[in-house]
Amino acid sequence: MNLNEAAASLLGAACGSAPTVVARAPGRVNLIGDHTDYNDGFVFPMAIPFGTAVAISPRTDRHITAVSERFGSVSFALNDSPTTSEGWARYLHGMVWALTNHGVNVTGFDAAVVSDIPGSSLSSSAALEMAIGTALAALADEQIPPAALAQLGQRVEHEVIGVPVGIMDQLISAAGVAGCASLIDCRTLEIDHSPLPDTVRVVVLDTGTRRGLVDSEYAARRAACERVASALAAPALRDVTLADLQGVDLDPTDRRRAMHVITENERTLGAAACAQGGDAVGLGQLMNASHESLHDLFEVTGPAPDVAVRLARKLDGCLGARMTGAGFAGAAVALVETDAADHFVAEMTARFVAPPSQPSTEPPAFHVVWPVRGAHVVQPTA
Ligand code: GLA
Repeated sequence: MNLNEAAASLLGAACGSAPTVVARAPGRVNLIGDHTDYNDGFVFPMAIPFGTAVAISPRTDRHITAVSERFGSVSFALNDSPTTSEGWARYLHGMVWALTNHGVNVTGFDAAVVSDIPGSSLSSSAALEMAIGTALAALADEQIPPAALAQLGQRVEHEVIGVPVGIMDQLISAAGVAGCASLIDCRTLEIDHSPLPDTVRVVVLDTGTRRGLVDSEYAARRAACERVASALAAPALRDVTLADLQGVDLDPTDRRRAMHVITENERTLGAAACAQGGDAVGLGQLMNASHESLHDLFEVTGPAPDVAVRLARKLDGCLGARMTGAGFAGAAVALVETDAADHFVAEMTARFVAPPSQPSTEPPAFHVVWPVRGAHVVQPTA
């Protein structure tokens, strides 16, 4: 049974109804460009074959009941504030709130949610938001463009969850294209999809680790970036060069944070050009440089992703490896020559052990992934 069928079957078991709509949205891995999105910069992520499916059927009253295969059941009324819901339900309730504010006619419904997105750092929250948004828009017979849907998800993160995320995760989950990584200009939300060269494979290195306090560290990094932009009277770090930082009185830590963002934007543009030109070696080198910058200047890599990245780079056929996403723990990503990919996964599986300072709480796992399409309705089929 695939994920979509599992969601439909869970809805039947929990609520006794067949779905009117089933929608699905993918998680993502970011190839390069981390902590650039909230600086109006550039990112180069791809949607991955792990995702979240939501099956929905309308109710005649103004209530919502929902069941998650992993996290249990919840219910609330349409008029309740989304902050009255906890845990995974807050994302669902938040999307109901955001869609309603956007003018979508959201009615009462039953929903079932199933996900196979492993571990952390692969945007399971964004996939949940985009799957729910896609399903509810379809139920209301509305078309919401991917960028607008992504912005609704970001609004939920900011105003309901309380984390000041950028747009990357929601936008790639909404707008990904099969076979392509996507260069996103996070100021204009323009997207340039580049087919990945067939000579390489992308491998997700899930270290099986998680870390608390990620949200507060994330907010602190964002605040540091905004302080530097404001000291230079620039709209965002996107508009700042390394030369602009010279001679300006900045906190030394803030200066290093800004240096990461400025150089990461350059690397990300370079990486997309490499992918477009079929230069997988150049892409891998930029991924390596990105990790070092995130380690030395932005200080978000985390002990377990560091160990995974260092091991990956020693293995045959690995062209580059780096942390991915917010950082601190969870998954990293490697670019590996296609012929070497199976052996690479076997070696990582045999040799990776998270360090004692950040032990795995779930079994580490290594997945060869290829880009898939973004959020879409799977039932009814067009
Ligand atoms: C998280 C956020 C994104 C982005 C990354 C870091 O995944 O949700 O918006 O800022 O961290 O690149």
